[in-house]
Amino acid sequence: MRLSAKFREQYIQHEMRTHGRKNGFVTTGQEARLLKWLPIVGLPKDKTLTMSKVPKNSPIVLEIGFGNGDFLVHLAENHPDWTLVGVEIYLPGVAKAVGRLEDASFIERTRITQLPAQYVLEHQIEAEQLDGVFINHPDPWPKARHHKRRIIQKDFAELLVSRLKQGGFIKLASDVSDLAEWMRVILDSTKGLTNIAGQDGYIERDADRVLTKFEERGLKAGRKSQFLHYVKD
Ligand SMILES: C[S@@+](CC[C@H](N)C(=O)[O-])C[C@H]1O[C@@H](n2cnc3c(N)ncnc32)[C@H](O)[C@@H]1O
Repeated sequence: MRLSAKFREQYIQHEMRTHGRKNGFVTTGQEARLLKWLPIVGLPKDKTLTMSKVPKNSPIVLEIGFGNGDFLVHLAENHPDWTLVGVEIYLPGVAKAVGRLEDASFIERTRITQLPAQYVLEHQIEAEQLDGVFINHPDPWPKARHHKRRIIQKDFAELLVSRLKQGGFIKLASDVSDLAEWMRVILDSTKGLTNIAGQDGYIERDADRVLTKFEERGLKAGRKSQFLHYVKD
């Protein structure tokens, strides 16, 4: 990869412990777009969201694990007043999404980072700064011994709640029923959150939702996704 050592040090992380792929092939064109846009909309390790000068009075909505950016582009299209913060550890996904957001002229309304969600929430986002969070099809880690790698854990749920404004939302989707249940059980018992569908409940799929790569992959394999919607009390 041709990204300079200085650029990599600021915008790309290898040292933080995460599970799942981080590296992969990035084309020369994608690399040029990363080099152009991350200094403008990126969140390097030592910069907070507030320091990135998000517009005042614009709802701030975070997407964790945006993959190739399907949903981020859809959100930008449908919510022109929102500032979107996209977090994705897989660099080729970041590169693809940056290209798509630039092509659609949405990029300047976003903040994009390849740092892990845990770091971003803990160190770069303030308490009660977010209006909403989307987590679509997080990695299922199906083996029981890998369940501790799932992103939704008790302490992560508490961290999410602390970063949400009162009335803010968390919306999640999964095509893996065991993982949907795992997330529901943890979030239903997290203080300060109300499940909009009632305890133990799932909401209907939002009619205007775009099909993400992993929802589509699930459908092709005969797995219908389940959807969760929580609001901070
Ligand atoms: C199964 S994919 C789903 C992608 C997309 N949301 C979709 O619905 O098609 C899960 C994504 O979460 C990302 N991811 C995993 N752990 C993460 C973390 N700690 N912080 C940010 N993203 C993470 C992975 O790199 C991967 O792209």
